[in-house]
Amino acid sequence: MLYSLLMSISKLQIQRVRNISSINIEPSPAINIICGENGSGKTSILESINILGLTRSFRTNKAHHVVQNDQLASVVFGFIDPMMQGLKQSLGVERPAEGEARIRFEGSDIGLSTLAELIPLQVINSDTFQLLEGSPAIRRQFLDWGVFHADKAFIQLWRGFRRVLKQRNTLLKCGKIDNQLRQVWDSEFIAFSDQLTRLRKEYLSLLKPEFDSVISQLLEGTKIELGFSYGWDKKRQLDEVLASNFERDLRQGFTGNGPQRADLRLKVDGHNAAERLSRGQKKLVVSALKLAQGVLFQRMNSRPCIYLIDDLPSELDQIHGELFCKVLEQSSNQCFITCVDDSALKTYWSPQTEIATFRIAEGSLC
Ligand SMILES: Nc1ncnc2c1ncn2[C@@H]1O[C@H](COP(=O)(O)OP(=O)(O)OP(=O)(O)O)[C@@H](O)[C@H]1O
Ligand SMILES: [Mg+2]
Repeated sequence: MLYSLLMSISKLQIQRVRNISSINIEPSPAINIICGENGSGKTSILESINILGLTRSFRTNKAHHVVQNDQLASVVFGFIDPMMQGLKQSLGVERPAEGEARIRFEGSDIGLSTLAELIPLQVINSDTFQLLEGSPAIRRQFLDWGVFHADKAFIQLWRGFRRVLKQRNTLLKCGKIDNQLRQVWDSEFIAFSDQLTRLRKEYLSLLKPEFDSVISQLLEGTKIELGFSYGWDKKRQLDEVLASNFERDLRQGFTGNGPQRADLRLKVDGHNAAERLSRGQKKLVVSALKLAQGVLFQRMNSRPCIYLIDDLPSELDQIHGELFCKVLEQSSNQCFITCVDDSALKTYWSPQTEIATFRIAEGSLC
């Protein structure tokens, strides 16, 4: 793999993020290992990269927790090469403790959706278990990340669908709906639902073989089936479902069926994977989902994702830790990996892999 052609973040400056006052890093385009004791600031580095890519933390929605005590704003700056053209383009995000983030790309202010396209991030941390154990909303978010990056039409469609759903629910809450009005809303609801579901289905059919390939490398001999539930009984047309459930929807004051209820189903030997797999197996399955998404993203966009992997070795034995690293080094993703102790982790890579190791103590590199 010619990593120099695939450089993503080539310089990283972090200021006033949690216990980090100021850190400058020149990351490897391939594997970056960040190690240090508990509370030293490892996750805060990953959190800073997340701020650079999305303006927000993956740990909290409240910016004032991220901004260093007694400071007004965190700032994360980087040189990035979003289109893999061998460029170093400047990107800076200022995240104030209160108020909106400011994003500057090559000297101009840009919006959040432009930013999300510049740095496609994938996070693997203890929250990633929620992909198996959490609510369907988390799996829909995962699915829709992929559809967003796969199809330009998705975002408009998704916004349109949310608008119609909200209006339909408002009418249901009012309790009285004129039949004609209901038909108008339902036909719009169905049109959006069909298109949204078609995009999700198409994306999933592309994701499945990638997932099968990654999981077969990480968990040999365990067959995980990945299924898709539309949010209504797929043997029936949505108009029929809406009509037969209308009285119930009216009583409840919301729409009980539709893409807002879609879900991914993960099964092992026909059983719910969340109920059957061990902790380590779960980590491998949710990581495989994220890694498969990266493989597909790269195939569709000719550029890799950036992976933030918090505490890679946790839950994994040596064999599976090593397998995980093998999958990472075979990809061309830029990875930022944290661990408390890198002594085992550093032996998992092949000599050709470009590895940069950063040791952190009390918020500073050492
Ligand atoms: N707003 C803040 N201002 C200053 N320090 C903070 C702030 N928020 C958290 N901290 C401290 O910053 C440090 C950041 O910890 P971080 O979670 O990055 O550590 P870590 O190296 O990932 O540790 P672990 O191995 O336990 O996961 C902690 O010591 C925490 O107490
Ligand atoms: Mg941590």
